Amino acid sequence: MAVNHIKLDKSKKGWWKSAVFYQVYPKSFQDSNHDGIGDLQGIISRLDYLDQLGIDGIWMSPMLQSPQVDNGYDISDYQAVDSMFGSMADMEQLIAEAKKRGISIILDLVLNHTSDQHRWFLEAKKDKSNPYHDYYVWRDGSPEQLPNDMRAAFGGPAWTYVPELGQYYFHQFAVQQPDLNWDNPAVRRELYDMIRFWVNKGIEGFRLDVIDQIAKNPDLGVTGNGPRLHEFLRELSAEGFQEEYLATVGEAWGADVERAKLYSAPDCSELSMVFQFQHICLDQQPGKDKWDLAPLSLPALKKCMAHWQNGLEGQGWNSLFLNNHDLPRIVSRWGNNQDHRLESAKLLGALFHGMQGTPFIYQGEELGMTNVKLPIEEYEDLETVNLYKERLAQGYNPADIMESIYARSRDNARTMMQWSGETYAGFSDVEPWFIINPNYTEINAEKALADENSVFYFYQKLIALRKQLPVIRDGSFTLLCPDDEQIFAYIREDSNSQLLVAGNFGATGIVIPEEIQKQSAFLEGELILSNYRKREYKEDSEAAKDSVMLEPYEVRYYYWKK
Ligand code: GLC
Ligand code: CA
Repeated sequence: MAVNHIKLDKSKKGWWKSAVFYQVYPKSFQDSNHDGIGDLQGIISRLDYLDQLGIDGIWMSPMLQSPQVDNGYDISDYQAVDSMFGSMADMEQLIAEAKKRGISIILDLVLNHTSDQHRWFLEAKKDKSNPYHDYYVWRDGSPEQLPNDMRAAFGGPAWTYVPELGQYYFHQFAVQQPDLNWDNPAVRRELYDMIRFWVNKGIEGFRLDVIDQIAKNPDLGVTGNGPRLHEFLRELSAEGFQEEYLATVGEAWGADVERAKLYSAPDCSELSMVFQFQHICLDQQPGKDKWDLAPLSLPALKKCMAHWQNGLEGQGWNSLFLNNHDLPRIVSRWGNNQDHRLESAKLLGALFHGMQGTPFIYQGEELGMTNVKLPIEEYEDLETVNLYKERLAQGYNPADIMESIYARSRDNARTMMQWSGETYAGFSDVEPWFIINPNYTEINAEKALADENSVFYFYQKLIALRKQLPVIRDGSFTLLCPDDEQIFAYIREDSNSQLLVAGNFGATGIVIPEEIQKQSAFLEGELILSNYRKREYKEDSEAAKDSVMLEPYEVRYYYWKK
C-alpha cells in the first residue's frame, strides 16, 4: 500500500480522532542559536521533517517563562515565552509555519502549580491579606509542626514553611512549584483568560499537566481525583475551551476506565481524551513506586489494553502512547534494544497504532532511540537526583539504585534528538545542555531517511494507514489469545472490513496459533504491513505472506475487505 498523506480538516469537530500527534521537548529538540539549548527557531527548522513523517499536531512541552527547576514545568509567566527558547514573535511564526503544513500546535498547560517566582506567588507570600495570598494553598504551623505528613512527588514533605507568615504552603511537586488553590474562583478565572489568550494566538489544543491533581484537598490527604475535579473540568472546558475543535488531553495518572469516560465523554463537556498510565505502571511492583521494578507480563499488558479499548468504545476516547518526556524509551524497556532494536521498535509502534484512539509519538521514538546509562553526577532531572539521595539515605545499595535509574529515569527521554552522525548529532554546533546518547552515530534521522527499512518510514506508514483505513479509527476491538505469553494479536472490525494485527514479543520464532489463523483477515485478507521485508516484497517466495511462523519481534497487519 502506498503512503498517501491525508491532511485533516481542522474545522471539523472531532478531527483529533483521526489525528496523530508528536511530542516535542523543546530543550532537547533542535538548537538554532549556538547556545546548546533547543529553541523555537530550531523547531521551525524541523517542521518539514515532521511534515514528512505525516503528523497532524505537535504537543510542545512548556516553553514559557520559567526558572527551569523542573525544565519549564515551573512557570513564572504563562503569557511570555522564555527567552531561552525565543520570543513571542518566534512563537507566532512557529504557529503560522506549522499551520501552513497542516500541523496544529498543542500547548502544555501547567494549571496545578506555578513557579515560586511567579508574580502571584511573590505577592502571595508578602502577607496574609494580600489578594494573591489565597491563590495558593496555605496552612498554619510552626517550624516544628508541619500541617500533616504528606510527601511531595519529587521527595521531601509537601509543605514548605514561610517564617514571615507563620504558614506553610502546599506543593505536590518541587518546593519551587507551589500548588494553585483551585477552590478560589479568581484563580480559575485567571487561568481561563490565559487559555483564551493562547487560543487567540492560534493554538489548536492543549495538554493539561497533572490535571487530576488540581482538586486536591490536603486536609483529607487527597492529591488526585479530588471531589470537585470534574466540576472544575466542566467549567474549564466551558470557559476556556469554547471552540469545539480544540484537541485537549489531560495527564491523569489516577484515571481508570470509569473516570476516563467522564474526562472524554463524547459531548466534549470535559476534555477530548486523557493520558492514562495503567499500562505504563504494569512493570512496577504492586503497591510500590515506579523505581521498584517488576518484569513485564505480556498477558497483563494485553488485558489492560483490551480493557481500555473495550471500555471506552462509544463512550469516550483513548490516547495511545508508550513514550513521553517522563518515561524511559520504550524500545529499551519492553522491546529488545540489543539484537532486535529495529524490529521491536516497529512491533511496539504497530501494536499501539493499530488500536482505537489518538496516537502520540515522542521525539526520537520514530528513530527507535534508546535509554542511556550515565554516572549519577551526570543526571540533570531533579526527580532522579532526589531519588538517588533519598534511597542512599534509606540504606539502599548504590548499584541497585542505579539499576532503577537506568530503567526509569526521566532523563532517558531527555537526551538530545539525534539528527545526524556529525559532532553534537546535528542538534547544535556547541556542547548541549545535557548529554547526547553515544549511539547517535548509528541511530539518527539522517540515516533513517536514507534507509527505506528504517523505523521512520515504518511510522510514516502507520500514520498514513490510520487516515486511509476507517476501521483503525472506528472499528471494534477484540483481543485474541489473551493468555499467550508471547503473541499480542487483535482484530479491528467494522461493517465492511477487518484488520488483523499480530505480533510476536519474543526473541524466538513462534507458530501463529490456530485462533489467529482462522480469522478471515488471515485467510482472505491482504498483508498490508510487516516489519520483515521478505513478507511484503515476497523475497523468499510467494508463500512468505502466508507463513504461519512469526519471526522474532515480527508484526503483521492483514486487511480484509468484506
Ligand atoms: C507532569 C509533567 C512532568 C512534571 C510534573 C510536574 O507529570 O509531565 O514532567 O515534572 O508534571 O509539573
Ligand atoms: Ca538555542
